Amino acid sequence: MKYQRPKGTTDIIPGESAKWQYIEGIARQLFKKYRYNEIRTPIFENFEVFSRTSGETSDIVTKEMYDFFDKGERHITLRPEGTAGVVRAYVENKLYGPEIQRPFKTFYMGPMFRYERPQSGRQRQFHQIGVEAFGVDNPTLDVEVMAMAINLLRQCGLHDLKLVINTLGDAESRAKYHAALMEYLEPLESKLSDDSKERLHKNPLRILDSKDREDQEIVANAPSILNYLTDDAAAHFDTVKKLLNALEIPFEIETNMVRGLDYYNHTIFEIMSNSKAFGGNWTTVCAGGRYNGLVEQLGGPEVPGIGFGLGVERLLLVLEAEKVDLPLDEDLDVYVVGIGEVTNEETLKMVQALRQAGYSAERDYLGRKPKGQFKSANRMNAHLTLTIGEEELQAGKANLKNMQTGNEVAVSLADVYTGFDKVYQDIVESEKE
Ligand code: HAM
Repeated sequence: MKYQRPKGTTDIIPGESAKWQYIEGIARQLFKKYRYNEIRTPIFENFEVFSRTSGETSDIVTKEMYDFFDKGERHITLRPEGTAGVVRAYVENKLYGPEIQRPFKTFYMGPMFRYERPQSGRQRQFHQIGVEAFGVDNPTLDVEVMAMAINLLRQCGLHDLKLVINTLGDAESRAKYHAALMEYLEPLESKLSDDSKERLHKNPLRILDSKDREDQEIVANAPSILNYLTDDAAAHFDTVKKLLNALEIPFEIETNMVRGLDYYNHTIFEIMSNSKAFGGNWTTVCAGGRYNGLVEQLGGPEVPGIGFGLGVERLLLVLEAEKVDLPLDEDLDVYVVGIGEVTNEETLKMVQALRQAGYSAERDYLGRKPKGQFKSANRMNAHLTLTIGEEELQAGKANLKNMQTGNEVAVSLADVYTGFDKVYQDIVESEKE
């Protein structure tokens, strides 16, 4: 029997994981500047947390949930996205209290699960870096959230991106638009795809997002939501556009853009890439929007919210396709070369002391000859080697070599154990001369 990972999952092995840590590190630093703090919610939630919020007719709920009944007959779901769980936690922990600053800003990173057909940039277990901000309806926050997402992608090294925005208005705008859309689509019902026929009476907005070619032709002439916005919704969207311009962030408006999740209203956005990684097709790397009403839907007070989710696998695929060099610092500070079995105890003590002093250190455990050990040191990009043989051991010394310059000095073991900072400084200085 051959064991394989489940379809649609990957192993993030050492080497690969360094890239993840790099991206996550950039995100953490950036979120700190915008004053978003981390939240960690469970990876599974009660089924209703998602079924009630993502939308009963959404693909996520109808086709993609990893749900099961646990041994206590509870209906459980592996989270398909981050927002609903964070909103649940926001309500349950009463993070809307008067003593809590508004907006309440939080971020998360972690695995999400959707039973989708795996392909490049689409997996069944994938990872999102996401943010949510609660308690502010001001469109300035919408723009700041988009600006933060773009900053994050730029800091990771991506520049060739497209920001696409739309508005879904408020409930009144949507009711008016819903009616207009039905009036347009109903006479064309027989021409719609089977999926869209079904969507027509349950959630016609979804048809705008159809991947079916004929649906898309029909939708191309559909009325635009922008013509049905209430004054308030139009003013909100106008301010978003004005402030994006003020920050000199280019954007496109796509009036047919809807999202795969039902909780959105007002501003929605996607940041897309047409990298080779996706065969040159425009693919969404990061997406989000406003969800006023979601907090109430999960039993909380009337508190608006907005956020985004960024697909980490997709980001890494684009970075790779665009040949963006991630500055991964995996070099080794010191490789300790021990010559002969007699040095085993001392080299053990040396690597231990160096690590304790704050340096990365390695040694050999396979009894290899010095030549093999130096080879390892080179492969690990060691800056320094510290060599000790029987003679040095007796003299209480070791040989420190700068692998870049070839400079060599004898150092006392006492210095290695208690004064390595100075020794290190000296030899690194000699590198510069
Ligand atoms: P979403 O558009 O469903 O939004 O997902 C956000 C991002 O997650 C996508 O743009 C994509 O990069 C990535 N993603 C989604 N599904 C997959 C998959 N199967 N494989 C790989 N990557 C995937 C949300 O999830 C919302 N919770 C975002 C949000 C936060 N809105 C407001 N706050």
